[in-house]
Amino acid sequence: MSLVGFMQAGSTTVYAGSWRHPATDHGFLTQDFYKKLGRTLEEGCFDLMFFDDRLAMPGIYGGSVADAVRLGARPVKLDLSVVLGVVAGATRSIGLGATYSTTYYTPFHVARTFSTLDHLSGGRAAWNVVTSVNDSEAQNYGLEEHLGHDDRYDRADEFLEATTGLWDTWEDDALVLDRSTPIFADPTKVHELRHEGKWFKVRGPLTLPRSPQGRPVLLQAGSSGRGRDFAARWAELIFTGDPDINIARSHYKDQKTRIGELGRDPATVKMLPMAYTVVGESRAHAEERERLFLDELVDPAASLTLLSELMNYDFSGLQLDSPITDELIGSVSGIRGLVQNLRQHIGGDNVTLADLAGHRATLLQGPRFVGTATEIADQMEEWFHGDACDGFVIAATHVPGAYEDMVRLVVPQLQRRGLFRDRYTGTTLRDHLGISRPEAAPLGSAG
Ligand SMILES: Cc1cc2nc3c(=O)[nH]c(=O)nc-3n(C[C@H](O)[C@H](O)[C@H](O)COP(=O)(O)O)c2cc1C
Repeated sequence: MSLVGFMQAGSTTVYAGSWRHPATDHGFLTQDFYKKLGRTLEEGCFDLMFFDDRLAMPGIYGGSVADAVRLGARPVKLDLSVVLGVVAGATRSIGLGATYSTTYYTPFHVARTFSTLDHLSGGRAAWNVVTSVNDSEAQNYGLEEHLGHDDRYDRADEFLEATTGLWDTWEDDALVLDRSTPIFADPTKVHELRHEGKWFKVRGPLTLPRSPQGRPVLLQAGSSGRGRDFAARWAELIFTGDPDINIARSHYKDQKTRIGELGRDPATVKMLPMAYTVVGESRAHAEERERLFLDELVDPAASLTLLSELMNYDFSGLQLDSPITDELIGSVSGIRGLVQNLRQHIGGDNVTLADLAGHRATLLQGPRFVGTATEIADQMEEWFHGDACDGFVIAATHVPGAYEDMVRLVVPQLQRRGLFRDRYTGTTLRDHLGISRPEAAPLGSAG
């Protein structure tokens, strides 16, 4: 089983009420906060901790950022390359991932950032490839509107061609470092990329030798048909937001089939649903904690603020009893699959906006495992052995407590059952995931 920590470099986890939780540490503007999270997850032998990102403060709901700021609906996001540099220095083994957008960044920038992280962390870097979701982000990058859904993925395909190409511009043995000759690096082994496409023109080479993992590990979370095809082509870890085991099973089967159809081995690409865990001394205690986390700490306006961001649609004009119709879903341009999944999960013919807001834990809804540590391990095992996933992305109701509970109470249960490692046996993230180091694709010589 793979375990990944779903991190946020900012004031809230994906659960909008987390900052109000009595046990949440408000140190999100300090180094120690992130170092502690890294060390905690490493103590639990997690494969990876990865940070999500959004390139704008939520401002779609009601056309203003006021609710986001007042209610703490994700108004703070730190720059991830700096945060990961701090965590890299405080940890030794855990993989380190960051979310970077193919819609608003450029291939050279991203290739250089992740190659740097891979070098300085000794081969632990991962890139969560996203196409971003809404107009608020576009408006911070000189555009009025977010690029259309399929165009985003077309651009992302070309972005990945250019970025992976840049990572391969230095052959593995290009660096010579012979003081006497003197030859620093062999120019016949350092190549220009000369990428020219519809979206990008990149000459290269990258200003860094090939990194320990060859290429940083690629993560992705496409859920639409186009998104799944993109993931099938590029992803080495796939994150999902499937709310129940049946939805997860059919997604798992469909995604693995798509991977196989492209000639890749489906077993080498892991699919991990996002999951919350709420641990208690007894089931009743866990349920009481869950009620506090999920029912009492989130204002519905905070939930709708985040929903509006994810859907790129201003829900402030709708009444809470408005039905979520196919027509409405058709008019949102953000993560459509998420509303469809939630509607199916909530069930019944008349799902309303209030129902969606009520699923306010995350709105990137995955399973919620609630109970004693043994019961949570049972539920995780059921998913894992039930062809629904290859592990989990653990989201936090509060920080660092939710991860401490997971590491100190649930992970030992998984270890005892032989489902999870009790120590790291390799040094790179690829070692932890059991995936091979890619060969560099051949390129023309710069020399
Ligand atoms: C666990 C998880 C984490 C995600 N993190 C981010 C993120 O940090 N930033 C972002 O813009 N999108 C994020 N997404 C959204 C995905 O990138 C993607 O847009 C979404 O799954 C919808 O895909 P689709 O457009 O193919 O439907 C995340 C999705 C999941 C399931």
